[in-house]
Order: sequence, then C-alpha cells, then structure tokens
Amino acid sequence: MNKAYIKALANYIPEKMMTNEDFAATLETSNEWILTRTGIEQRHIAAEDETTLDMGMKVLENLKKQGINLDDVDGIIVPTTTKDYPTPSTSALIQNALGLKNCFSLDLSAACSGYVYSINTATALIESGVCTNVLVIAIEKITKDVNWNDRSTAILFGDAATVALLSKSNDDSGVIAMDMQSRASDILIVPSSGTAIPISVQNIEDGKHFIHMEGSETFKIAVTEFCNSIEKTLKEANMSMDDISCFIPHQANIRIIQYVAKKTGFPYDKIEIILNKYGNTSSASIGLALTEAYHSGKIKKGDNILFTAFGAGLTWGSTLIRW
Ligand code: ACO
Repeated sequence: MNKAYIKALANYIPEKMMTNEDFAATLETSNEWILTRTGIEQRHIAAEDETTLDMGMKVLENLKKQGINLDDVDGIIVPTTTKDYPTPSTSALIQNALGLKNCFSLDLSAACSGYVYSINTATALIESGVCTNVLVIAIEKITKDVNWNDRSTAILFGDAATVALLSKSNDDSGVIAMDMQSRASDILIVPSSGTAIPISVQNIEDGKHFIHMEGSETFKIAVTEFCNSIEKTLKEANMSMDDISCFIPHQANIRIIQYVAKKTGFPYDKIEIILNKYGNTSSASIGLALTEAYHSGKIKKGDNILFTAFGAGLTWGSTLIRW
C-alpha cells in the first residue's frame, strides 16, 4: 500500500492583530479573565474585504516561495467554516486560480476537526492510488461569524490559513494511524443562513447568523473525546504516549490542553502551543502549530507526531504521522 507523507507546509496570518486589552475597551471583560480562562493573549483578524479565497491564495504564495511546484497536484481539500459562496466551493475557486486541470476539489465541513479530517481523507486518497499529490488548505475567516457584542465567544476566535502538501511516500515515513468520529449536537452552532433557518431580516436582527456555543458543555465533551481519540489512535499504531515526540492538539482553550496532558501523562512542554498568539483558528489551528514547529527545526525525520482535534458537529479525531 502507498503511504502518504507531508512534503511541505506554509502559513498565512492576517496583519491586523487584536489584544485582550482591545476587547476590554469595548466589552465587560478583562485581560486577566481571558488569559486565565482560555490562554489567549491576542488573535489576528482578516481585513474586511479579504475573502477566504484571498487567504487561500496568500498561503499558497508562501508555499511557492519555498520552491514548491504545484503543477502535479491532483486533489485540493479545503476544510473551512467560512466558504466564500454556498456554491461553487472555495476549493474549486482555488483550483481555477491555480489553473489545475487533472485535479478534483472538495470543501470539507468538520469545523475545528477539519484539518485532521482532511489530512486523513487525503491520506486515504493517496493510499488507495486515487491521488498522488493533495493540497489540504485550511482557511478560516471565522471572525465574520462572531458577534462582537457577545463576550463569551468574541474573545475566542482568530483568522488564519495553513497549507499542507501531501504526497506518495517512498519510504516508511507518513501517516500510520488515524481516527475520525462524530455525533450530532447543536451545542455549538451557527443557526442561520442555511435551509433550516434561512437568512431574513428578523433572523439577522436576532443574531442567528452568529456562532452560538454552550461553552462549558462543549468543554466537558471535548476533554473526554480528546482522550478517547488519542487512546484509539495509539492502539491502532500499537504505541503509547511515550512513543510520541510531538503532540499537536486543536487549540480552543489552554485548560482543555492541560487536562489532556495530565490525563494522558504526556509532558506539557512537548506540546506545541500557539493559542496564545492566534486564538482559536478552527480548522487552521493544528496546521499553524505544525508549520511553526517544522520551520523552527523542532520536528526531525523519524519523529512520531500526533494531532488531535475536537469541534462543532460535534466532530473529533486524530492523525499519527511518522515524519
Ligand atoms: N469575560 C468575563 N466574563 C466572561 C467572559 C468574558 N469574556 N465570557 C464569559 N464570562 C462569564 C460568564 O458570563 C459567566 O458568568 P456568570 O457565572 O455570572 O454566569 C462566567 O464567566 C463563566 O462562564 P462559563 O461559560 O462557564 O466559562 P468557562 O470557564 O466555561 O469558559 C469558554 C468559557 C472559554 C468558552 C470555555 O467553556 C471553553 O473553552 N469551551 C470549549 C470551547 C471548545 O472547545 N470549542 C470547540 C471548538 S470551536 C469550533 O468548533 C468552531
């Protein structure tokens, strides 16, 4: 069977940055509350006229600057909660902009688990021989769905894009185990703009087009399912946390990460944390952390890297890669 490995990585972070103090100036909140309850210090916000496609093309520019040729890409998967249009897909817009012919494109809806779901899907396509080179481009302009007057969600999110190019491996490096699970729930939902609660003046006045989250209930399920997914993935690979060189969890709340580290016995200092700088960037968070760790030289050939995510859906899952 073919193995799939990550050949190249790049990030794009929008220029505008907002600190906790900026929120404290307009909302009944404080730097101290945000920092201690979430671990977030700042986040970046895309420009008002910047589209998801724009952010996708900027992260691809950053990939191309590394000398990566995209002519042989035959699959594009875009995990995002913020497509440019109901249709066509953002991945199709990117394919068109890249001028790729022998290629398919797919937007993937799994919220914060989107990166893990997409890496796993790309892996299955490469392992089965359907594709050879797949781009996973996680792009989130999630702050457009945030109610800036709701202190319980406004302070959490940030915008960013990240790309991974997956290719067929020639040795034993690549994805060695994966897990994807889901369960329907409306505790984390953007109620309006689809068919169930269509866009209307009334629904917009009621704020139904914004993210609604039952934070503490989501937190409780997240910590349980994080641990469940890690256990399942390690079992599939016949490994324990002692075999993992680097753990990259989805970055929604530092207290979720601390809980998971304690529960699994994984050393906290070997976890990649970027939440403080970027907030919760939904499907982009794991890719952002992986790219920063890789480009700073922290990841070496032969390392076992574990990603685990949890998000709206509810969705959760893991990817275990031998680098
Ligand atoms: N500043 C000050 N006080 C606040 C703020 C704020 N920004 N936000 C909420 N509070 C208040 C609440 O009003 C509440 O006050 P009350 O006790 O008087 O009613 C109090 O703080 C406690 O509120 P909780 O919601 O219980 O706070 P909690 O400790 O649970 O933290 C948080 C909230 C950060 C949202 C946390 O629950 C969390 O991180 N949940 C999980 C998020 C997650 O994993 N999401 C999944 C991925 S996201 C995706 O898929 C798009």
